[in-house]
Amino acid sequence: MTNTIRNNLPVLTLNRIGKVWQSREGQVEALTDVSMDIQEGEFVSIVGPSGCGKSTLLNILAGLDAPSKGTILSGGTPWRDRLGHIGYMPQKDLLLPWRSVLDNAILAEEISGVSKESARNEALKMMGEFGLSGFEHNYPYQLSGGMKQRVALLRTVLADNELILLDEPFAALDALTRSNMHEWLLGLWESWHKTLILVTHDVEEALILSDRVYVLGGRPGFVKSVVSVDMSRPRSLAMADQADFLRLKKHVINLLKSTS
Ligand SMILES: Nc1ncnc2c1ncn2[C@@H]1O[C@H](COP(=O)(O)OP(=O)(O)OP(=O)(O)O)[C@@H](O)[C@H]1O
Ligand SMILES: [Mg+2]
Repeated sequence: MTNTIRNNLPVLTLNRIGKVWQSREGQVEALTDVSMDIQEGEFVSIVGPSGCGKSTLLNILAGLDAPSKGTILSGGTPWRDRLGHIGYMPQKDLLLPWRSVLDNAILAEEISGVSKESARNEALKMMGEFGLSGFEHNYPYQLSGGMKQRVALLRTVLADNELILLDEPFAALDALTRSNMHEWLLGLWESWHKTLILVTHDVEEALILSDRVYVLGGRPGFVKSVVSVDMSRPRSLAMADQADFLRLKKHVINLLKSTS
């Protein structure tokens, strides 16, 4: 579906998405009236307080859950067969405990029919870039939280979808590894021209990486504001010290704090 976009229509449109969870305790309204337009090749971040429905939204986009209200379109046409066509790194790393790092990394490719041998060869080439060299044959219980996240990220990247959703992919990393991963992801995205949607609690991370930042409020989750990051590319982490950047960061933090 994402390969057949015509007339520069958004690769992804969320049209007034709402979600109500049913539980034994009753109903939880997780999202209300969430609309977004994502252009092909854009890098968009979503920030918002804990519990405002960010993961719920990504689960819906990936096709794992259905919205209670609203529609999702690609190129202006309803997009129903999303499951398996969108790269998704969920908030929990969801590594399979009985598979090695290498075999976890190739899972999506294996499911899509790529031979195990060629998938493994491709994955092995990327282990260094993901800080996993020497751990290819280890199992998830032998890894740190950050390493597990990097395996999950590698698995998502190897699945090679045009649209990729990342739910707090760097949350468990130390500051240095995290900024290395930012540089790395920027380089990757700038050379690939994939469309990326990143959920994060880190406003600086969102601004350094993104073209636009959707600021959500809660509960239920709604779009408070959309902030354009009009800073030149290629970007570097040095931009975080610039006055324009600091102004933008303050603006987003104020939006997050505001109650309306
Ligand atoms: N499967 C589910 N069944 C019932 N309620 C759910 C389910 N998943 C999420 N919720 C509820 O929906 C709301 C939004 O949760 P969600 O995990 O999407 O928030 P979030 O913005 O991702 O939070 P965080 O920043 O902490 O990850 C919460 O009130 C949560 O309890
Ligand atoms: Mg979440």
